[in-house]
Amino acid sequence: MEKVVSGIRPTGHLHLGNYFGAVANFIKMQDNYNCYFFIADWHSLTTHPKPEDIVKSAHTILAEYLACGIDPAKCTIYIQSDVREVLELYLYLNMNTYLGELERVTTFKEKARKQPDNVNAGLLTYPTLMAADILQHRAVKVPVGKDQEQNMEMARKCARRFNNIYGVEFFPEPQSFHYSASAVKVPGLDGSGKMGKSEGNCIYLYEDAKTITKKVMKAVTDTGPTAPNSEKPEVIQNLFTLLNIVSEEETVKFFEDKWNDCSIRYGDLKKQLAADIVKFTEPIREKIEMYSNDTDLLMRIAKDGAEKAHESAAETLAEVRKIIGFKVY
Ligand code: TYM
Repeated sequence: MEKVVSGIRPTGHLHLGNYFGAVANFIKMQDNYNCYFFIADWHSLTTHPKPEDIVKSAHTILAEYLACGIDPAKCTIYIQSDVREVLELYLYLNMNTYLGELERVTTFKEKARKQPDNVNAGLLTYPTLMAADILQHRAVKVPVGKDQEQNMEMARKCARRFNNIYGVEFFPEPQSFHYSASAVKVPGLDGSGKMGKSEGNCIYLYEDAKTITKKVMKAVTDTGPTAPNSEKPEVIQNLFTLLNIVSEEETVKFFEDKWNDCSIRYGDLKKQLAADIVKFTEPIREKIEMYSNDTDLLMRIAKDGAEKAHESAAETLAEVRKIIGFKVY
């Protein structure tokens, strides 16, 4: 069965962007592929989290994965730092990756701008660690949102370059995967750009109806359409994109018609959007509460997952060592 890998950084809670960009695909893929879904806690070290928060943050995402329907009986769920083979592969891949190409990665440039006092080497080599996450399982498909495209290009480059240097066909070139026609980019509520933790414009799956409604009602809008059938400005298009994701087709059509004949009332649109988001998140929220309180279960799942992921990664690394030329005892 084809192997699939994907991960999420444990820097907070899962939001609608994580869900519709990635997790929704995880849930479908676990029935048809050999899936490895992990929590990228090593990646989160680029911002120096406090030691007491490391395990707690990983457990938060683990509970939220389970609440969304990721099932440890169907796939392998593990915490990145439990499977150390990835570090060895990370080192090998770093030897084949050039400073210039890492410096050109947009997310690196953005992060370097945002945290100018902490432009560490981990931030620079973030894409090679991500490549190692994927290649340690020799995965072919990677369910990720649109924002990960450049990192995926780097992962393919790492695979190709390793194969070329050693004259082998060992690593497959991993491809981004999504069930929708194209990769999803869930917009934020602040009128521009994607929904993201560091952007502070998220709706989280764990949030209650009141909080979600308040956030949606505060979303940025404009003064309304001035001519029939006009193009929507970005702030309004973003609300429609969210509506498309969570609402019924007739609801979307209703508001599209209202936009087109200039009778739209943004208050009504937001109320409907908030209600549809809550309808979607509420059952997940209840399960998050349940799983978050069961630390024993979370630890058991993480331990089982780590064993299975280790087995898969160790097999790859044994081959990699041989290919590179290390003596195998
Ligand atoms: P992270 O933690 O930023 O996001 C996790 C997943 O959620 C998707 N996502 C979105 N999709 C659509 N619209 C949005 N607004 C949105 N926000 C987040 C991301 O595309 C991602 O799929 N580098 C990764 C974590 C990672 C990884 C990997 C992923 C580490 N190693 C190996 C795949 C394979 C990241 O920072 O994701």
